[in-house]
Amino acid sequence: MITLKNVTLSFNAQPILSNISMHINSGEFVSLIGESGIGKTTLLRLIYMDLLPNSGMVTVGKYNSLVIKQREIPYLRRTLGVVFQDFKLLEDRNVFENVAFPLHVTGVKRHEIQRRIVRVLAEVGLSHKRGAMPNELSGGEQQRVVIARALVNEPFILLADEPTGNLDPALANEILDVLLQINSRGTAVLLATHNYDLVRRSGSRILQIKDTKIKEIESI
Ligand SMILES: Nc1ncnc2c1ncn2[C@@H]1O[C@H](COP(=O)(O)OP(=O)(O)O)[C@@H](O)[C@H]1O
Ligand SMILES: [Mg+2]
Repeated sequence: MITLKNVTLSFNAQPILSNISMHINSGEFVSLIGESGIGKTTLLRLIYMDLLPNSGMVTVGKYNSLVIKQREIPYLRRTLGVVFQDFKLLEDRNVFENVAFPLHVTGVKRHEIQRRIVRVLAEVGLSHKRGAMPNELSGGEQQRVVIARALVNEPFILLADEPTGNLDPALANEILDVLLQINSRGTAVLLATHNYDLVRRSGSRILQIKDTKIKEIESI
């Protein structure tokens, strides 16, 4: 599904990732850990091809970093769901409209939009809030809307970059439960975080970035 092979990525001649290889299978839940500033976000950007490696190869489904054309990148991204820490909702639109937003770009039909939104709001446990405005939601609920929005294109994997970064521990656990639930229905999850408690709770496979290398570790 996702493979990095001998990938090196440098910023201003400073290597962030050097000659790393990794693989994520369909349906897997993988945690990506490492200290702040170590390269977690950079690795996610390589996967959604916001960055291309200086050497080596990234493959995501049928897309390959060596041959992908700029105009194909939006199609690649529709196969991925991405959630960032500094999530933003459209403050003047309700939950339903926020989740529908990515679908307007892709020209999905009205009844199909309806079907998908009902499904993803149920998945994140927010069916009862579909008419609420963002400022009527708690931080955890807002983050769940962001996750629902990331799922609405029915991606094969959800990339979550510090999705609990601004939330207190109880809400962080709530978001982890949502991610586990999504994963149990077949969507792969890559969770980048420096919250080691969360990683332990997830019981997932763990990849650690350290000194520009990536390695699989048994526990933390
Ligand atoms: N666009 C950029 N230009 C230069 N340096 C960058 C850029 N983006 C990130 N970096 C540097 O790369 C390193 C890894 O950053 P990042 O991937 O954001 O780390 P993490 O997500 O693990 O906190 C950091 O030292 C950061 O300052
Ligand atoms: Mg980061």
